[in-house]
Amino acid sequence: EKGGHDYFMLKEIEEQPAAVADTLRGHFVDGRIVLDEQRLSDQELRDIDKVFVVACGSSYHSGLVAKYAIEHWTRLPVEVELASEFRYRDPVLDRSTLVVAISQSGETADTLEAVRHAKDQKARVLAVCNTNGAQIPREADAVLYTRTGPEIGVASTKAFLAQMAANLLVGLALAQARGTKYPDEVAREYQDLEAMPAKIEQLLLGMGPVRELARELAASPAVLFLGRHVGYPVALEGALKLKELAYMHAEGFAAGELKHGPIALIEDGLPVIVVMPSPKGRAVLHSKLLSNIREIQARGAVTVVIAEEGDETVRPFADHLVEIPASPSLLQPLLSTVPLQVFAAEVAQTRGYDVDKPRNLAKSVTVE
Ligand code: F6R
Repeated sequence: EKGGHDYFMLKEIEEQPAAVADTLRGHFVDGRIVLDEQRLSDQELRDIDKVFVVACGSSYHSGLVAKYAIEHWTRLPVEVELASEFRYRDPVLDRSTLVVAISQSGETADTLEAVRHAKDQKARVLAVCNTNGAQIPREADAVLYTRTGPEIGVASTKAFLAQMAANLLVGLALAQARGTKYPDEVAREYQDLEAMPAKIEQLLLGMGPVRELARELAASPAVLFLGRHVGYPVALEGALKLKELAYMHAEGFAAGELKHGPIALIEDGLPVIVVMPSPKGRAVLHSKLLSNIREIQARGAVTVVIAEEGDETVRPFADHLVEIPASPSLLQPLLSTVPLQVFAAEVAQTRGYDVDKPRNLAKSVTVE
């Protein structure tokens, strides 16, 4: 049942192309993005003037990625909040606020309570959930299901990728309702999304060197992750995977913050994993990250660089290079996350830990 793998998580990592494809399926019909459940009128959707995304853990990271796309596509301000913080700070909510609650299980206590708080304040709630009939989608005004099937590994992998895809569909649905994107533009974005499962598939075929690298670095006391733009939440997710699976001290940083503190951590032999943006799509950020890598390499860090295929500029500064297929910038996290999952799982296995059941963690956190 683990499909020949030692752990469910490894099988679930390999199921990611299908998880994304199944999540997209049926959500673009006759040229329009459609949700699974829609109890909001078109007018109510058009009246939305502000979006809050609430979630915990990896689901929160998927929300951070979504912010870039939703703001870009809809011109609505988007704030992403940890569900556990949201209702304790009296957020400004009203009937023109959309609260997007992202939860694989649909039962996470903090996210559910955030939804209830939002509804008390008359905000509209849209749930992105992997579990049919769970409490969060039951209480929401609209629902988009990720369709990955059950996720057995405690650490989220395929659900995370599916959430990122689903969140993008939510962004397109809002852009469509608001008219900030023409139908042919929505169609084009959707086609770009549809091309992603094949790219993830291709990427998964080349993970051998990442496993080897993980075994090589498995005894490191700490690993840092750097990214910018949508690569920043990917860095946070890479660090979370390594903490929870390999019990290793890991931190993700926005690379632009390096000089404001974290660079003091760089020392001889410290592995730093850098998520590079596309050299074409994000040329300015790319060149800034390139100088960051140069700086940390000069201070003795072991640089592991995740970069687009054919990006030759990074080679001189990458002690290890992991290539990912080219993709539109906003969709890159569907690729750049994958080697980080594989890396964390392999480090954990090398250190002799149970990849599916990390210590102290539960698959769904139904107490606050
Ligand atoms: C990390 C992980 C957790 C969950 C978080 C939210 O690998 O799995 O951080 O993402 O507990 O759970 P859901 O999405 O079920 O609300």
